[in-house]
Amino acid sequence: MKKITTFTFLFVSFFAMAQQETIDQKVNALLKKMTIEEKIGQLNQYTGDNSATGPITINPNKQAEIKAGLIGSMLNIIGTKYTRQYQELAMQSRLKIPLLFGQDVIHGYKTTFPIPLAEAASWDLKTIELAARVAATEASASGIHWTFAPMVDIGRDPRWGRVMEGAGEDTYLGSKIAYARVKGFQGNKLGDLNSVMACVKHFAAYGAAVGGRDYNSVDMSERMLLETYLPPFKAALDAGAATFMNSFNDLNGIPATGNAHLQRDILKGKWNFQGFVVSDWGSIGEMVAHGYSKDLKEAAYAAITAGSDMDMESNAYRYNLAELVKEGRVSIDLIDDAVKRILRKKYELGLFDDPYRYSDEKRAEKELNNPENRKAALEAAEKSIVLLKNENQTLPLSKNLKTIAFIGPMVKEYKANMGFWSVELPEVNYDKWVVSQWDGLQNKVGKNTKLLYAKGCEVDGDNKDGFAEAVAAAKQADVVILSIGERRDMSGEAKSRSDLHLPGVQEDLVKAIQATGKPVIVLVNAGRPLIFNWTADNVPAILYTWWLGTEAGNAIANVLFGDYNPSGKLPMTFPREVGQIPIYYNHYSTGRPAKDEDSKNYVSAYIDLKNSPKFPFGYGLSYTKFDYSNLKLSSASMKNNETIKVSFQLSNVGKAAGEEVVQLYLKDKFGSVVRPVLELRDFQKIKLNAGESKTIEFTIDKEKLSFYNNKLEWTAEPGDFEVMIGASSADIKLKSDFKFN
Ligand code: NOJ
Repeated sequence: MKKITTFTFLFVSFFAMAQQETIDQKVNALLKKMTIEEKIGQLNQYTGDNSATGPITINPNKQAEIKAGLIGSMLNIIGTKYTRQYQELAMQSRLKIPLLFGQDVIHGYKTTFPIPLAEAASWDLKTIELAARVAATEASASGIHWTFAPMVDIGRDPRWGRVMEGAGEDTYLGSKIAYARVKGFQGNKLGDLNSVMACVKHFAAYGAAVGGRDYNSVDMSERMLLETYLPPFKAALDAGAATFMNSFNDLNGIPATGNAHLQRDILKGKWNFQGFVVSDWGSIGEMVAHGYSKDLKEAAYAAITAGSDMDMESNAYRYNLAELVKEGRVSIDLIDDAVKRILRKKYELGLFDDPYRYSDEKRAEKELNNPENRKAALEAAEKSIVLLKNENQTLPLSKNLKTIAFIGPMVKEYKANMGFWSVELPEVNYDKWVVSQWDGLQNKVGKNTKLLYAKGCEVDGDNKDGFAEAVAAAKQADVVILSIGERRDMSGEAKSRSDLHLPGVQEDLVKAIQATGKPVIVLVNAGRPLIFNWTADNVPAILYTWWLGTEAGNAIANVLFGDYNPSGKLPMTFPREVGQIPIYYNHYSTGRPAKDEDSKNYVSAYIDLKNSPKFPFGYGLSYTKFDYSNLKLSSASMKNNETIKVSFQLSNVGKAAGEEVVQLYLKDKFGSVVRPVLELRDFQKIKLNAGESKTIEFTIDKEKLSFYNNKLEWTAEPGDFEVMIGASSADIKLKSDFKFN
């Protein structure tokens, strides 16, 4: 058996190598036939006319340029019809090099999944991978070869609107999710009809923009970069990510797009990345506005030298690279390297065999929005919901309620549930096709339950005219469900906010409804952590529902009535006030830590606010209760090549089956550099029936103890450690010391 496996392995590896050789040979042969203009054309990406995902530029000659072989890739061309039309133009070019179609397929294509931050709250890697798989299957059937996802930027600042696109604040969780998403998008291998190329973005450190303002500067130590911001990118690369996108920000004074340290030394050097790097939208040209490049030509020079292979929407390469080569400032080898990286992917995708293979109407009809995909979207949505509060067992609701009032500006919304970065499909009528929260509840309750509706107010503005009607509805009901939050377009790209409180008069509406004395359940819809202190302190039950996608209404109804027991845990810290931001659980140990919430005197604390967040990283409740006991370590110390097994008992001591995300945190007590107060280093999501117990095991090895030491070497230092098992970063249930020597 072993022989056969070894033989098969050797055969497959040989076959893969042989195939790679032929691809390389084909690429080299094609390259020899290409003029310099055609080579530069491959490095040039242009947007289509359908939708703009950046400041649109108008190019009336686009079609002629494709026929002349001067454009290598397009974005924002979707659907079998349009991709086919554009590919036909490329097939009229001299060398018939197919176009690559890229698109922001961020959380689903036609079947829309929860926004990525919400999905991260599931801590369920299989679900997350499946969501990306479904998105890839649908997008690839519609002619798309390449998604600009996953975004793996660490988000520690909820003012930054793009936290909705990532996996939250934590490097370990973010790395696991990055890996799962790439696997999901790319499937078994590139070239399979249901796979799309992943594009890991934004390289790098984009999430640390000053003040949470989009496109802003980043000033960061190399240690912070290596330890906190880069690992998710490396994890995505380890999963086989075909492409990377660089970012708008400068990093320590050098724009990421022109940053040779990031792209040449780290990505293509140390990490040996063989795919290609696309710039972000216009980011090559923006190096002029940064004051880093004198003009577009110098920007082109800076970008190509630093390792940006494809120019998205700057037209910098198109009009300047040939001259730079002629002047001898840019070597043709540099251009050839970039072209080869791109052509290789076109071959791997099978586009030279059949440039239309992904534009398949029949497949699109079968794949798009089919019941299996909807089921996956529903499950992902259920798992993304976080139960923040549930006093007096307000939830789950009984199925025998006579009257429910469903109030708030989100209740009858359709498109809102899709969140930002959902694909705008021209032929889709969202109002008919997304399950609104109202429709979801109606689907759920029986004939004997009466549903009352009132909008109450808009998301923003100060109009309270609808309050009276809402209060009247509440008074007639046994229970009130209030659906409030941000507008869908308040988070996402260029959606930074300085105020994270519930917009408008929504919290006043909560107060008015709460004053009726009826049991109130609040649903908070948002793309980021919001601040809603009065609500959190006063209403008995709160579900954080983010933006959940096409199945939002059904998922919410299932959770409200206990048909799904919520299991989500926050992937970001929720602040009490904006003044606490940036706030994240794994901050460094300070010399004057505050002992408790009340110590203020000469300690690291605010005099006007508690130190702790409103809701901590890793937090989330369930309708059942879990008990943690009996922590055991296989040894009290470990050496270099040894491991310690950590085990404990998890028991479901409540009345419902449920899932718990058990979290393993480590603390290195002393180091050659200051270390975080605790760091997530492992987790498992465990399902237990009521009354069931299970022994949970984790393994600690040297890798888990490692960090960048004072010489920036990745290593573990001998000394004392603490292992903590928590239900959140602030709810450590079990802990023990051990030594590494
Ligand atoms: C700009 C965004 O930063 C990037 O994430 C996106 O992929 C491109 N626009 C293309 O839409």
